[in-house]
Amino acid sequence: MAVNYDENTKTISINTQNTTYQMKIGPYGVLLHNYYGERISGEDMSYLFRYEDIGFSPAMGDAGMNRTVSLDTMPQEMPSFNVGDYRAEGIRVQHGDGSYALDLRYVSHEIMDGKYCLEGLPAMYADGTGEPGASEGNVVKEDFGKGKGRSRGKAETLKIVLKDRVKEFFVTLLYGVYEELDIITRACLIENREEETAVMDKAVSMSIDFLTADMDIYTFNGRHTMEREAERRRLGKGVTSIGSLRGTSSHQHNPFVILCEPETGEEHGGCYGFAYVYSGNFLAEVECSQMEMLRFTMGIHPSRFKVLLEKGRVFTMPEVIMTYSGKGLGRLSSQLHRAMREYLCRGKFKSGRRPILINNWEATYFDFNGEKLISIAEEAAKLGIEMLVMDDGWFGKRDFDESGLGDWFPNEEKLGMSLHELIERVKEKGISFGIWMEPEMVNEDSRLYKEHPDWAFALPGREPGRGRCQLVLDLGRECVREYVYQAICSILDTGDITYVKWDMNRSISDVYNRDLPPEQQGEAGHRYVLGLYELLERITSKYPDVLLEGCSGGGGRFDAGMLYYSPQIWCSDDTDAIERLKIQYGTSFGYPISAVGSHVSACPNHQNGRITPLHTRGTVAMAGTFGYELDISKMTEEDKKEVKKQIEDYKKYSDLIQEGEYYRLAKPEEIFMAWQFVSDEKDRSLVNVVMTSARANSPGCIVKLKGLEPGSDYREDETGKVYSGSSLMHGGYLLPKEMGEYQSYQIYFERV
Ligand code: GLA
Repeated sequence: MAVNYDENTKTISINTQNTTYQMKIGPYGVLLHNYYGERISGEDMSYLFRYEDIGFSPAMGDAGMNRTVSLDTMPQEMPSFNVGDYRAEGIRVQHGDGSYALDLRYVSHEIMDGKYCLEGLPAMYADGTGEPGASEGNVVKEDFGKGKGRSRGKAETLKIVLKDRVKEFFVTLLYGVYEELDIITRACLIENREEETAVMDKAVSMSIDFLTADMDIYTFNGRHTMEREAERRRLGKGVTSIGSLRGTSSHQHNPFVILCEPETGEEHGGCYGFAYVYSGNFLAEVECSQMEMLRFTMGIHPSRFKVLLEKGRVFTMPEVIMTYSGKGLGRLSSQLHRAMREYLCRGKFKSGRRPILINNWEATYFDFNGEKLISIAEEAAKLGIEMLVMDDGWFGKRDFDESGLGDWFPNEEKLGMSLHELIERVKEKGISFGIWMEPEMVNEDSRLYKEHPDWAFALPGREPGRGRCQLVLDLGRECVREYVYQAICSILDTGDITYVKWDMNRSISDVYNRDLPPEQQGEAGHRYVLGLYELLERITSKYPDVLLEGCSGGGGRFDAGMLYYSPQIWCSDDTDAIERLKIQYGTSFGYPISAVGSHVSACPNHQNGRITPLHTRGTVAMAGTFGYELDISKMTEEDKKEVKKQIEDYKKYSDLIQEGEYYRLAKPEEIFMAWQFVSDEKDRSLVNVVMTSARANSPGCIVKLKGLEPGSDYREDETGKVYSGSSLMHGGYLLPKEMGEYQSYQIYFERV
């Protein structure tokens, strides 16, 4: 068993292959956080903590005159509130008698085989089958081990029940333990069993109190067309936080955080990763306290959040995926990649090669008809492309972005044919058909809005703000979800549609749910996210053969929650190969490469006007689910030859790219960016390098490889030259002399 309880020391230890996570039922029944890090032998780690009166940190009520036990200094597993702990709050609650208090004490625990599910929320699963429909309530699923696939790690669930010292108010902590993967998930259930309703206006899914605060934080920040730029900074005293109030996880701050020791690098040092399996407003807080301890919490953003907990109501908090690596950031990413790829993504497309697609957005924008798409499909098929995706503009009245959203009827007049005919004619060219939809939105200039103006978010008596000239349909309401579900089904039932790009093109504002009474409006934002998940669950269950690609103006909702429904997400609307290097680099810390939607687009690039070689655009798009987004009929014969070659290469490398070990070999500030894929067997490897600045009379550029077998020999595909694994890793590979801007190289090795 990975989870053990030691009756003598009252410690609960979770041991994965390389890590230990330990808690202790401490003085007065407070559940203490003892330790998280490198695997240890199992002794009670509470010897690291000193009980003393530090002044101005009140003792717990039931400790009487014992001055040494203060919740302000104790390392807790879930923080208490208004009973003497002044650090970042966890669950904030006001009981029916008006008192603000939460004083959590241990009641019981249970260790079970299998992985818990969270009602209505995405979460990692354990059986490996990845079938949609797994979330059937907050239950433990015991039928693991039946799936096909590579690693079939078992999972265990640890459930710890905590109760307020006075009130019948319970918090159940859930831990999902993947021993083989060094992954622990956390979530919690909050329940009021008092007669009177309690009001909760802040809730976290997890909290950890580390005993030392000497850490750096990595956050992944940005804006539209520049998402997830990795930023590392030193944590100082006080609170450091990131979050989103945009209704989505956002372009601005991704719900993924790394804490690491100051000396941690790619291959050495301790680091912790926390990925929120949630797609709405969130808050991640780190507080370095007066005693130089560090509290990390992750939860739903408390702004505009208020939940009425009537007697018996259980509120389920979303899951956080946690991992620790004592061998640097590379290992940390690899652990998360595997966990998300194999135990979070689901359905037919979670593994195996995804179709190479061509999307008409940057080729035509709104200006196309059916014949134009068929001609793109014809050219694309000749080059080996496998799917045409018809992007925005095919429905309702939509020749620009000010109208049409919500009217999911094909515009046959514009297309010049029915959707069914278009699908069939594209298929005749030898490629499959995919479609773009933006189901969560409505334009005021649409039939839907005329019929149901009240379905869009708007505050009473106020005109709602438009984003990209559109309003947001309140998916928190059943009537709205039902319409959207039927609309999507009617499109998907039109013909052989094998892919949907599910877009969401604005931040949400004016949140107000018309079905809820005034006192429950604090749930409106969360209910939207739950509604979205319910809708996605219904669609993915009904159409298991359809590949879903998530999108929100590129990567505005690139999070672990969405990966449960869509195994790939359009990474950014910035398709410039050079800026993409930074975006994809940042994304790679927390998310698998198989999730990164990436395309080759035209030059000069439509977002920043940069010109890059076609080969380089191909190299960069091959660090993801490969595709094209340009007018192929405008390409020269020479370029078409290059495209054909890229497609052949991608087919050859795709298993390495999607499921191999991924290594970052350089940082954005260097003169080149480099990354590498290595097969599980270490017998094949693909090294990718993009020069980001050209220099005259340049000194030799050497890139050191990773992950090879030191004692094996590897042959470089193009030159036939043989190197030993150890020389490539310790000496490195000498790149050709750079010439011209933004050259790139793909160097492929096979073990001899
Ligand atoms: C968003 C997407 C783009 C494209 C447009 C269409 O911006 O990220 O890829 O689909 O919408 O309107």
